[in-house]
Amino acid sequence: MLELPIPHTIEWLGDRARIINQLKLPHKLEFIEIRDWRRMAKAIKDMEIRGAPAIGVAAGYAMALAALSLKVEDLDEALKELNRVAEELKATRPTAVNLEWAVNRVLAKARTATDVEELKKLVVEEARAIQREDEECNLRIGEFGEKLLEDGDTVITICNAGSLATSYYGTATAPIYVAHSRGKRIRVLAMETRPYLQGARLTAWELSRAGIEVKLITDNSVGIILEKEKVDIAFVGADRVTRKGYVANKIGTYLLALACKEHDVPLYVAAPTSSIDMSISEPEEIEIERRSSEEVLYIGGYRIAPEGVEAIYYAFDITPPRLISGIITEKGIAYPPYTHSLRRIMEG
Ligand code: MRU
Repeated sequence: MLELPIPHTIEWLGDRARIINQLKLPHKLEFIEIRDWRRMAKAIKDMEIRGAPAIGVAAGYAMALAALSLKVEDLDEALKELNRVAEELKATRPTAVNLEWAVNRVLAKARTATDVEELKKLVVEEARAIQREDEECNLRIGEFGEKLLEDGDTVITICNAGSLATSYYGTATAPIYVAHSRGKRIRVLAMETRPYLQGARLTAWELSRAGIEVKLITDNSVGIILEKEKVDIAFVGADRVTRKGYVANKIGTYLLALACKEHDVPLYVAAPTSSIDMSISEPEEIEIERRSSEEVLYIGGYRIAPEGVEAIYYAFDITPPRLISGIITEKGIAYPPYTHSLRRIMEG
């Protein structure tokens, strides 16, 4: 197994979960132990843990914590309570489909229990399986994606679709980690990712810790960077992919994809099949999270716009399939037309 010098972003410790507090990075590596599902819901909402697959795993563990705290002996009562918890968890962050996917998967397992004790056991096991499988998906994405990288390549990426956003190797970063472990020299350009700065705070942190050359660029410099620098490929993550191949990902991904098209740089989306939502096809069907405009108006507690001025803040955007060269999943790479290739991957 490929080892990274990065602690797991989330771990199950038998009766509680432990997460890295991503709000403290890169200055402090701080862990939070979570024993209560409401605290986990808050950690997801406040982005102490973030990234689509990671919040799926976190929501699974929140369901486990809720199950372990059940005081009722009646199975129907227990299932009713878990359903209520599931609805609250799904409302924490709406765009990443992994979250509702994980919660529904745990719920479905809970429904197979014959009594409350068995329910507790099954729910914990299912949440742990989700994390284990996500880590395996990360590595398989890395194996498929690594073949797209040559020694000496420069990769551009946005936000953090890295180890911190998943169970271990990341999605967009997994091909880079695998290539690096095989001796390929890869340079990464990390877009800083206003307003939450996941690229600067998180991607630059984990890649540099892993010994990978990383340079930080401002989001608005992508045009000139693609014009002046040698950039070979773009890897981005996804929060939700529709069956036609529309990809919701961190705000700025669409602009990066447009710039890549203009400069003939292939843009690949790296995402596990748990990020693919075959129930929808059109971009309008994706709920785009709108967060507090304070996150745009303040940097490090300092207000950057005059009092009285508001911000418009979509946390994600949608990249159309015509701008995407391929979607790297744990089951292989889907190429256009996506309606066909994604169906084959999901059924395979
Ligand atoms: O708001 P965030 O930080 O949760 O957004 C994260 C992203 O947009 C990632 O690219 C996506 O979740 C994929 S993570 C492997």
